[in-house]
Amino acid sequence: MDLAKPERVVVMTGVTAGLGAHALQHIAGQPDTRVIIGARGSACGSERTVPHGVEAMPLDLASLASVREFADAVTGRLGDARIDILVLNAGMQASNSERRSADGYELTFAVNHLAHYLLARLLVPRMADHGRLVITTSETHDPAVTPVAPKTLEPQALAHPTKSGFGTGIRAYAASKLCNLLTAQSFAALDEVRARQITVIAFSPGLTGGTSLGRDSPRAMRAFVMLLMHTVFRLVGPFRPEYVIGTAERSGEALAEVSLGVITPPRGRVYISLIKGESTFPDPSQLARSRDAQDRLWRESEAMVGLA
Ligand SMILES: NC(=O)c1ccc[n+]([C@@H]2O[C@H](COP(=O)([O-])OP(=O)(O)OC[C@H]3O[C@@H](n4cnc5c(N)ncnc54)[C@H](OP(=O)(O)O)[C@@H]3O)[C@@H](O)[C@H]2O)c1
Repeated sequence: MDLAKPERVVVMTGVTAGLGAHALQHIAGQPDTRVIIGARGSACGSERTVPHGVEAMPLDLASLASVREFADAVTGRLGDARIDILVLNAGMQASNSERRSADGYELTFAVNHLAHYLLARLLVPRMADHGRLVITTSETHDPAVTPVAPKTLEPQALAHPTKSGFGTGIRAYAASKLCNLLTAQSFAALDEVRARQITVIAFSPGLTGGTSLGRDSPRAMRAFVMLLMHTVFRLVGPFRPEYVIGTAERSGEALAEVSLGVITPPRGRVYISLIKGESTFPDPSQLARSRDAQDRLWRESEAMVGLA
């Protein structure tokens, strides 16, 4: 009789940099845990180091074909094994909404939302009962925090924006994070997910310094954001804790805690927001809670990724 403890299987995106890299260190260090990561280009080779034993497989979220190939490759590699924890953390922020994905969708919407929506649709059926699906969102989804966050949901306008000037990058980012939160709630409401007692969490790491999120922005824009973070945000922080800047180490540790089940939202809730390093369970924005918006995004995303 084989008495070996079965391995816990964790599949993750967005762990080659930023807070995800710290989460990966924690998760890969757990006993009896097999970690498979999806990563671009050189992360799958020897140039970038991932913790010993972590299996890196090619994934470019800017291409739906790559998402499908990754899902197939993970499924093939796992054989009969199931995924216990699926962490969808990858994200990007551009300075405008000019760039398009391989499939012709606005890049931020495509990478942050559509690709993860498709990946979750393909991999949730491969998850174990009592598993955990974690999608990284952001407080920026909420107009009360980020005034340019959407107040209505228009998926086609997000996928095919007609404006691309100053400020469209942060708008696209905030909208994509709203989509992450809407999607998490839609998954949580699925009969299959409820019947199999899969816990779904939308995790906001809070404003986190020391990551490479805005790396594609022009140097002047990055300098401006740094200036804001070190001046205005510091002044506002004592009154608005969501503007207090956390570290990538703590945000990554919290993502690992949420993923491993150390932290769980109260029954019936999906959203965890890290504020000053502590997990809080606020209501998402009014729009993020809208069942109509959740259903509409699900239907339109389904068509955009070719599942309808
Ligand atoms: N930093 C913050 O203040 C903040 C606040 C709230 C929420 N978040 C969210 O936290 C998550 C992590 O952000 P971060 O700040 O740690 O950013 P980061 O340092 O830029 O890390 C982003 C991760 O996503 C991956 N990624 C980006 N585009 C990809 C693509 N096309 N295909 C595959 N992987 C891709 C990156 O891979 P490469 O290494 O290949 O680029 C990297 O591993 C994101 O979802 C972000 O929206 C961040």
